[in-house]
This record gives sequence, structure tokens and C-alpha cells, in this order.
Amino acid sequence: MHTLQFQGRDITSIEDFTREEINYILKISKTMEPIAKKGSDMLKGKILANLFFEPSTRTRLSFEAAMLKLGGSTIGFGDVENTSVKKGENLADTVRTVENYADIIALRHPLEGAAKLAAEFSKVPVINAGSGSEEHPTQALLDLYTIEKEKKKIDGLKIALVGDLRYGRTVHSLAYGLSQYNIELTLISPDSLRMRREVLRKIQTKIPVTETQNLEKIIPQIDVLYVTRIQKERFPDQAEYAKVKGVYRIDLETLSNAKKDLIILHPLPRVDEIAAEVDSTPQARYFQQVWNGIVVRMALLALVLGSIK
Ligand code: NCD
Repeated sequence: MHTLQFQGRDITSIEDFTREEINYILKISKTMEPIAKKGSDMLKGKILANLFFEPSTRTRLSFEAAMLKLGGSTIGFGDVENTSVKKGENLADTVRTVENYADIIALRHPLEGAAKLAAEFSKVPVINAGSGSEEHPTQALLDLYTIEKEKKKIDGLKIALVGDLRYGRTVHSLAYGLSQYNIELTLISPDSLRMRREVLRKIQTKIPVTETQNLEKIIPQIDVLYVTRIQKERFPDQAEYAKVKGVYRIDLETLSNAKKDLIILHPLPRVDEIAAEVDSTPQARYFQQVWNGIVVRMALLALVLGSIK
């Protein structure tokens, strides 16, 4: 018997999880692989509300598919155009309404702190599906799951995050998650998109971290390359975006000096930071990552709703 407690918990930040808890989520995710293929009625009668105040393809559809594969149902919205938010309803009131319709809420919102605020008001558990530039904890869990599945371990790896480390929320959550393991982390970005200082300060107390702008120099040394999109929509000034647009582009030439067993991950959507020619290389794993999003979200739903202890 373990003493970990997931039932009824909010998932607003990956910082709320210990290494033991993350490992347990990854273990349960693995048991979801066959269930994802054949289906189950584990969450029959349960309802997930997807409240997405920002665009999404993978996160929303994979939460929905995860719930359906476990026999549950989903309600919700993918944009606010047709909701009472347009009439001026605030997030707290939206949440206090939706908790009457659903057993669990997945929330994506442009504002940092939105998931924490929603969790304070909600009687049902809230899962953060992306809160502005701040965090995206379920993406980080599926990234960790992918790394462990592909490399058979996390400890001992040399991992690099490249791209927009300032406005990208996935890299904030992933950096926190990775800092629970014995890894070496390299952060590659232009100066204006360096990792948020508060994230850097915290992770540096746990793991060795190097910052650089030079992808070419780092690539021969690393085991995992996590590529991110420059978050155009989050720049306060589009002239600043224009300066860094297209700054890193991974193509076959970039990979010519990489380890044979390097894996390349990307939370997607991709714009131009990975050339299409990379998709057919053995290193490309970003579409496998999408499948892993299903099993990890199935595990989270089953754990938080208490059907797996
Ligand atoms: C990311 C997001 O929304 O933060 N996408 C995702 O959830 N997989 C990454 C991005 O938008 O660049």
C-alpha cells in the first residue's frame, strides 16, 4: 500500500508534486496504454468540463478523448464567443456554475494564476490545462512520461530546452518537473527569451543548469532536445517578436552532429522551428508524444476522480 493521495486534488502546478508522486502518475499512465486501445467504463457516469478560454487542439481533444476512453462524458467550450463570459461574467462565477454540471474541470486561460483562482472557488477538482505563460503541468507530465518511455530512464540524462523559455508555459512546468530528477539541463534561447528568473532560481538549487544561445555547440552532447514555438501571441510588442522570429530552426544539418539516440520532443503546435524533413528521422518523437498525452490524462482523471488509488 502506498500513502499517496490524489483523489479530489487540484492540479494547478507541477510544483505541487513530489518526485514520488510524479513517478506514481507515470506508472499509472503506463497501465493506461492497453486501456486506451480497448476502452473501459472506469469513469462511467462522471463528467469532465473543458473550459478553454484560449485556442487548443491537443490539450482539449486529448482530455476529451481520455475521458471518453474511460467511459465518462465531457461538456464545455473551446472558445468564449458563445458563452456568458461575453456578457461580462467573471471566472469565479463561471466556475461556481460549472461545478454543478461536472465532477472535474480542465481549464485553459490566458491569465497567469487563473487555474489557482478557479481552484479556490470550485468545489470540484480543477486541472490547469495552461495558465497564460505560467504553467502547463499536464503537458510536463506527458513530456516526462515520453522521456522515460523512450529513454527507459530520466536520471542521468542531458536535456536541453530550446526556443521561447520566457513566454512558453510548457517549459516552465517541465523545468520544475525535471528538477526532481538527477539530470543536467541546458537552456537555449535568445537573450530576450531567457528562462523566467523565478523558475531558474528554484531549479538551480536542485540541478545543474547552463544557459546559452548556441544550439550548434550543445547538440552533440545531449540526449533529449525539447523544442518550443516562439509564443507570438504573448509578446507585448510585435517588433520584439519580429527580432526573434525563426531564430532556431532544427533541420537535418543541425542534426548531423547529434547523438544517434537523441530524441526530439515538441509540445506542438510547430510553426517553423522544426523542418518537415526532420519528421521522418528516428530522432523525431513529437507525434508519439501526442499519444502519450492521452494515457497521462487518463491516469490523471482516474486518480483525481478516485477510481484508481
Ligand atoms: C502548448 C501550449 O498551449 O502551451 N501547446 C500544447 O498544449 N501542447 C504549446 C504552444 O502553444 O506553443
